[in-house]
Amino acid sequence: MVDTTRSALYDSIGIGYAAMRREDPRWRARILDAVGDAAPVLNVGAGAGSYEPHDRLVVALDPSAEMLAQRAPGAAPCVLGVAEQLPAADGAYGVAMGVLTVHHWPDWRRGLAELRRVAARQVIVATDTDRLAQFWLTRDYVPELAPYERRQVTAHQVAAELGTADVRVLPLPRDFSDAVYPAFWRRPEAFLNEELWRHSSALARLDPSVRRRALTRLAADLADGTWHERNADLMELDEFDAGFRLVVRDGDALDRAAPPA
Ligand SMILES: C[S@@+](CC[C@H](N)C(=O)[O-])C[C@H]1O[C@@H](n2cnc3c(N)ncnc32)[C@H](O)[C@@H]1O
Repeated sequence: MVDTTRSALYDSIGIGYAAMRREDPRWRARILDAVGDAAPVLNVGAGAGSYEPHDRLVVALDPSAEMLAQRAPGAAPCVLGVAEQLPAADGAYGVAMGVLTVHHWPDWRRGLAELRRVAARQVIVATDTDRLAQFWLTRDYVPELAPYERRQVTAHQVAAELGTADVRVLPLPRDFSDAVYPAFWRRPEAFLNEELWRHSSALARLDPSVRRRALTRLAADLADGTWHERNADLMELDEFDAGFRLVVRDGDALDRAAPPA
């Protein structure tokens, strides 16, 4: 029996998701490059449809009706479902993709096995959780988040499970448009907007008292220059490696490379 209780999370925090999480064109180019020309595409944990190809057959799958309801008119067809039990025949897809979703799957190993079963190629966006846990907001304002981040499945575990060494850094440009948790790494004032906290699965978990304490400290550090002094090096960067990784497994290439039996 697949546990879908955690999957229901996005029926509450997903409200208004599409407005906050606007696909970034730089990430789109890198993700589509990894997807290649394989077809059809299964987008698992697809949510509102960010980063899906628009030039071929795509099927989107997600357990949250709230998320699927936010798909744009004309977006690819979608089905309710979970990664751990994909409603598809073996090898039915050319590629199975999953963007920032694997850490939500109650049984991520089973989910990845399903992606391998239904498609020759997998493209996954996941995080280096150690690196993510070092982000300045976590480090200096909400250290309670660090153990939570470190408990999540890491990109390297995803790669090991899929059997690939192809793990690519996905940096965050300085004007990144998709409001993932560290998106505003050099725009710290953005974190003073509590709306942002409600839409991040990591930040939304925090106790309101922790949120209030963090916001008060951040506002004070921005006002007296402490934040800028502490993070001066970030202001020099055009892009920042917060820990996002693109994991790519090409089953066909692996099969071709395998020695004859
Ligand atoms: C952060 S959102 C990412 C949505 C989309 N891929 C994007 O990048 O905008 C995570 C998504 O994973 C979905 N999800 C949660 N548990 C899942 C599961 N077991 N199988 C597939 N998707 C799941 C959630 O409903 C949510 O839509």
